[in-house]
Amino acid sequence: SGAVPFYGEHQAGITTAAQDRLHFVAFDVITTDRARLVDMLREWTAAAARMTAGKDAGIYGAVGGTPEAPPDDTGEALGLPASGLTLTVGFGATLFRDASGRDRFGIAARRPAALADLPHFAGDALRPEISGGDLCVQACANDPQVAVHAIRNLARIGMGVVSVRWSQLGFGRTSSTSRDQATPRNLFGFKDGTANLKAEETDLLREHLWAQPGDGADWMAGGSYLVTRKIRMLIETWDRTSLAEQETIVGRTKGSGAPLGGKAEFDEIDFAAPGPDGQPAIDRAAHVRLAHPDFNNGARLLRRGYNFVDGSDGLGRLDAGLFFMAYQRDPRRQFVPIQTRLARQDLMNEYLRHVSSGLFACPPGVRDATDYWGRGLF
Ligand code: HEM
Repeated sequence: SGAVPFYGEHQAGITTAAQDRLHFVAFDVITTDRARLVDMLREWTAAAARMTAGKDAGIYGAVGGTPEAPPDDTGEALGLPASGLTLTVGFGATLFRDASGRDRFGIAARRPAALADLPHFAGDALRPEISGGDLCVQACANDPQVAVHAIRNLARIGMGVVSVRWSQLGFGRTSSTSRDQATPRNLFGFKDGTANLKAEETDLLREHLWAQPGDGADWMAGGSYLVTRKIRMLIETWDRTSLAEQETIVGRTKGSGAPLGGKAEFDEIDFAAPGPDGQPAIDRAAHVRLAHPDFNNGARLLRRGYNFVDGSDGLGRLDAGLFFMAYQRDPRRQFVPIQTRLARQDLMNEYLRHVSSGLFACPPGVRDATDYWGRGLF
């Protein structure tokens, strides 16, 4: 399958039609040498431009270099096409000021106000060792081997500069980011991504997705803020819940994805539409009602999550859920108020545990081969 253009005004992997597979990684920077960090970002950018075009990570490749040296590509993607690979980079708040308050790279003053630490939400069960990070890279592709190869090579290139803090594999996109895509299903069996921001909605993207020049941090103009939440889904409990109850919790029908009280998947939600008992068909605490722009000051998100199953938990249950990812212009006005409401009232909470959290400032796109990820910041 084809290659997604790497260069552009915005980074690829945000409005790109969501691919089927994910390998997400968060890194800690282990050097305090600013020049080494910048060199690595340059090398990463060059490698990313190559890999997203379906080429080896380095110019010699897996088998073209000298036999005496380790190859500049690890080789497991030899013979595989680009598979729609996108690589999207983001900077965490700890890059600007680390946990002990140090401004390691002289960039603390450039931290965007929108990169404000997320508050604690009701019910959070976050594990610090799989949360946060100085840098992140989202690799999406239609072939898991291609996504993993890309992350592995970036980690290899970054040796001595970064170390992997945590990473997450995802299979099965849980969102559509283009009107051309059919809506996929999450592990609760419901269509997910129906009311998402879509690539075709240019005006809405300007308003809700892309950081704008006047927003505060000029180097972020054309970029976007990514919130990640690893959400464990207690699927065994869910599977013992009646169909009617499941639909009440979500606020949509399981089959077609139509809003309760509506007919078809893409019908506008009518929160006043009556159900069989004359009461509103959509419960006051249904997920789609609490997350809806009407109840969140108009806030919208571009959701781009993936299903995960990380084996089992040793207690006879699948360690499964949703690796939630959402891009937005300002989390303080979008993710935070929506999640505050959901965390307090969502009927779905009984079946969910948020176990990891991340927030990253994803800079604008790389313009050409002389540009690199984060040039505007350094
Ligand atoms: C809508 C599932 C977590 C925000 C939906 C829909 C489903 C769903 C089935 C309806 C289809 C659609 O419009 O996409 C889930 C599951 C979650 C989860 C299973 C956790 C495992 C979250 C979180 C947020 C969120 C953490 C944000 C804080 C939204 C929004 C909508 C939505 C904004 C669209 C509401 C609308 O405008 O109609 N979700 N969701 N969801 N969800 Fe979630």
